[in-house]
Amino acid sequence: MDPVSDTWNPSSWNGFPAAQQPDWPDPAALEAVLKELSGLPPLVFAGEARALTAQLARVASGEAFLLQAGDCAESFDAMNADIIRDKLRVILQMAIILTYSAGVPVVKVGRIAGQFAKPRSTDTEVIDGVELPSFRGHLVNDATFSEAARTPDPRRLLQAYNQSASTLNLLRAFTKGGFADVRRVHAWNQEHIASSTEGHRYEQLASGIDSALRFVEAAGFATSEDSRLHEVDLFTSHEALMLGYEEALTRRDSITGDWYDCSAHMLWVGERTRQLDGAHVEFLRGVQNPVGCKLGPTATPADALEICEVLNPNRIPGRLTLVSRMGAANVESKLAPLLRAVTDAGHPVVWACDPMHGNTFTSENGRKTRHFDDVVAEVGGFFAAHRAEGTWPGGIHVELTGDAVTECLGGGDQLDDADLELRYETICDPRLNGRQSVDLAFRVAELLS
Ligand code: PEP
Ligand code: CO
Repeated sequence: MDPVSDTWNPSSWNGFPAAQQPDWPDPAALEAVLKELSGLPPLVFAGEARALTAQLARVASGEAFLLQAGDCAESFDAMNADIIRDKLRVILQMAIILTYSAGVPVVKVGRIAGQFAKPRSTDTEVIDGVELPSFRGHLVNDATFSEAARTPDPRRLLQAYNQSASTLNLLRAFTKGGFADVRRVHAWNQEHIASSTEGHRYEQLASGIDSALRFVEAAGFATSEDSRLHEVDLFTSHEALMLGYEEALTRRDSITGDWYDCSAHMLWVGERTRQLDGAHVEFLRGVQNPVGCKLGPTATPADALEICEVLNPNRIPGRLTLVSRMGAANVESKLAPLLRAVTDAGHPVVWACDPMHGNTFTSENGRKTRHFDDVVAEVGGFFAAHRAEGTWPGGIHVELTGDAVTECLGGGDQLDDADLELRYETICDPRLNGRQSVDLAFRVAELLS
């Protein structure tokens, strides 16, 4: 056994400094909720997490591509069947474009059914001289600027569990019930092209998909009858931030005896909580789910190597995904040394590009936003760095919604500063809307082919 893993248990993280934890006003109430959670059924099963590891192993070896996408922060308020369906729909639309252009399977992982906790740059927020705890996601408190709303409330952990369960239930129904039929998804993409001013740019790609589908059907595979053409696997993921919640959903697998965090298939540690001697890394190193780690522009090759050693000491392909989020201007120069160091050390990782978090800025009217062109540019730099190093650009990790929000600038519909006032609805970071997301997939397709 690995020398460190015998010191690990689901609560060993308590012996390490945990960044980004709220000040729970009533520790006894928190304990009671955690106890209740630990008796509730797991949201996912160990076997599913192992299946995702196997699929990600194919990404690590260049035989598949990862699409990880969903909300920055899911909301307790904006929660209904249409929102879930539309988010799934856009992920499926992107996946089919990427599958065709990459020529390999696309592993689909949502930032969904559990993405409720947010790291913040400061513990408190001051408005007009009033200081209150920062909003940390609906798992902890509410964004409204009042003492009552901002006070961390442990009952929210149960609500997050329940919302995750009902979201996952609907996703399972949609992905296995015919909604994901490849013909249907392709028809949505054709509608997108027909209604987009930039659509002509993508017509060739779409007609390629069309011919491929006609060929498949002519050869005798009816998309409505072959499960591979009308069902998909959509895995769930979120940042493992509130460790008490994650611990309460961690269970020992009866088949292997290993521990799995059954709150989601995949968990990641964020840019602000990836300290090697911190509680988040300690927790994640002991669960056998596939895990991710964000790497921002301050990450050194030594940091990346240490993350690999701690989170994947046995070098299991698919276990670890490194998600770079460097910013469009930095990505080539910052990523290349990391690619080299990890590759030279022989660590089998999935490399994914988060082109969102390094490209956030404040618009003239004071909105936190991102420009579509910067997002595309970061993905472009990510591909260039991989080409130069001879490594596989394994995937993208994006914040999106299926709704027609106006939170990011640019895209085929050329949203500008004034448009940000129309439907700015995110409770945290600005998300690509449904149309911008499909546009992004077409742009990534151009980079892939
Ligand atoms: C996020 O993914 O929403 C996030 C906070 O990212 P990062 O940790 O990379 O800043
Ligand atoms: Co975010």
